[in-house]
Amino acid sequence: MLDNNNNLRPKFHITGGYGWINDPNGLVVFRGRYHVFFQYHPQSVKWGPMHWGHVVSDDLAHWERLPIALAPGGSGDTDGCFSGSAIVHDDKLWLLYTGFTKNDGQDTVRQVQCLAESSDGVHFVKHGVVIGSEQLPIGYAATDFRDPKVWRHGGKFWCVIAARKLDGRGRTLLYSSEDLMSWHFVGDMLGKDCKGIMTECPDYRESEGLLLVSEQSQPSEGSVHLNYHTTRWMKGKLDYAHGSFAVEKTGICDYGFDFYAPQSFETEPVVIGWMSMWDRTMPSEKYGFAGMLTVPRKIEYEHGELLQTPIVSKREILRKKNVESLKDNIKIGVIEIAAENLQALSLRMRKKGDTYTSFELTGGEWVFDRSRSGEPIVGVETNADSLAGIRRMPFDGKEKTEMTVVFDEFSIEIFVNGRSLTSTVYPPQDADGLELTVRADSCEYIKYDVV
Ligand code: FRU
Repeated sequence: MLDNNNNLRPKFHITGGYGWINDPNGLVVFRGRYHVFFQYHPQSVKWGPMHWGHVVSDDLAHWERLPIALAPGGSGDTDGCFSGSAIVHDDKLWLLYTGFTKNDGQDTVRQVQCLAESSDGVHFVKHGVVIGSEQLPIGYAATDFRDPKVWRHGGKFWCVIAARKLDGRGRTLLYSSEDLMSWHFVGDMLGKDCKGIMTECPDYRESEGLLLVSEQSQPSEGSVHLNYHTTRWMKGKLDYAHGSFAVEKTGICDYGFDFYAPQSFETEPVVIGWMSMWDRTMPSEKYGFAGMLTVPRKIEYEHGELLQTPIVSKREILRKKNVESLKDNIKIGVIEIAAENLQALSLRMRKKGDTYTSFELTGGEWVFDRSRSGEPIVGVETNADSLAGIRRMPFDGKEKTEMTVVFDEFSIEIFVNGRSLTSTVYPPQDADGLELTVRADSCEYIKYDVV
């Protein structure tokens, strides 16, 4: 496991060790192993010149750290190796990522797409720029052109890239290539501005027809998504000939405070997100790290919804049937609650005295509250729920409610019948109390160690 001997790091979630991390990058299966890269600033707990950190796993649950894969300073990426993706081709591992350059000390920046190649999956050789600013259609900004996500279809390579109109907001562009080196613009997939100021980290999943995008500074819609920066899924049909994507249905990926820029493996229906958020304080800075990734989540599109199941290696240590109320202790591990005809539920987690995080079924919806969780997290949001530490998630009212809660140092990931609500929390180190009360026809509680 990562950083196992330091109890002030997540025990099984991916971090960079020392330093800052943001988006997961380059999720790929190469020679039977799962590779995950991430935006990494190894010199500081603040965002800075972006490198690609690198971890590898045999089972998506236990991760081993590899050397930094990409560092800024090459052709096209003088000031940063921004987000991107990976693909296996000719038994080699290829990274398609955004090179970032500041223009001679001026405010403006240039973002281009660069390629790197590896024969062993550990050491990478850069090929420089493969999609330059001149390949943007007229009217799009060279300053905001980033985060290529590559896949294969019909004997060609395709990639979606976040872009912005000079006079507008975020767009998602489609490019194609025969050989990964030479790329052609195909279309502006949605053909209209996104609601935020910029689209980031688009991810297209051919098998489910799902486009995931993260939008910066998106205005909230009622209480549907209250984060200042939000990740949405769009289900639809991609017309490869014209590069247009017809949206049939859309929703948000996660109902919590800390989920952004998810990426999937092309060959597996599994996503990982950044389990933090821009424009909020990060109390973990004082422990020498900022930012972590979510656990991998198996995704399915069913009955008009994106459903997620966490992938964690666990061993059962306690099982209780016919639960109406119970007290337990858990700080790191997993619990599952299975209820028939649930009417009410209250869960207090990481509790010590008056410090706890709650999740309740109340007034026909789930309400998560981290206002008493411990160290406060302060953000730029102004809406009442965000200021009060609240997040809400719809209750589906199904006959069976299946809930999984994944606890690690500084995070709680809640899944109810496939919907997810992910948040960081900073309770006292010894806060491990759990209190559950339930009203249902029947309820089973299971506790696991993460192994
Ligand atoms: C999203 C993002 C990307 C960019 C990267 C830089 O969180 O802003 O658009 O490539 O982070 O670290």
